[in-house]
Amino acid sequence: MLITLDDVLTAAELAAMQELLMRSRWAHGEITAGTQSAKVKNNQQLPEDAEHLPVLRRMVMSALNRNPLFFTAVLPRRIFPPLFNRYGGETNSFGNHVDNAMRPLPDGSGYLRTDVSATLFLTEPDEYHGGELVIEDTFGTHAVKPTAGSMVVYDSTSIHQVTPVTRGQRLACFMWMQSMVRDAGQRRLLYEMDMALLQLRQAHGDSDPVIRLTGTYHNLLRNWAEV
Ligand code: NI
Repeated sequence: MLITLDDVLTAAELAAMQELLMRSRWAHGEITAGTQSAKVKNNQQLPEDAEHLPVLRRMVMSALNRNPLFFTAVLPRRIFPPLFNRYGGETNSFGNHVDNAMRPLPDGSGYLRTDVSATLFLTEPDEYHGGELVIEDTFGTHAVKPTAGSMVVYDSTSIHQVTPVTRGQRLACFMWMQSMVRDAGQRRLLYEMDMALLQLRQAHGDSDPVIRLTGTYHNLLRNWAEV
């Protein structure tokens, strides 16, 4: 499943984050890469001790916390602290890879299982050439390059890449989530049911069948979720 969430950030948040990232010190992206992905990862990343990283992370987390679509698409149980990357110049691409299944949490409290991966785009698509996020799933290969402030979420099981940025630079935030619902097929069913219910509620109000179907959604979630 690949979902684009539009306007996750307000224009003011986006401008503030771009400004902080412009003033930041960057490191090579291999600092968080696994063994296979290190060979194909050629970008830059904010190091864990970067001055503005805490405030940038807080801004992303508060945007996600107020976004009901993010909740229904991901059903997040735990979110790895968001990271920030930059593609351009000599460090401009990230070849095909699958994200590591287990991520050691930076605070040493254990591991996060990566069920869902996300990229929050921070540069407008007409400001750089290339830099598409290309994701393979069972329905084929999809290339995405949404507007700044939008977020793409996809199953972490998918092979994906970022094509070379040949002009300009591409700033983004990326993160991994452990979902309350581990199985991607179950997550997809719940997402589709919740979105259909939203439309039914708008069209018909809280009619008796809508209330019953909403109950079924929650009872499925109760059965499938681990918290
Ligand atoms: Ni990746």
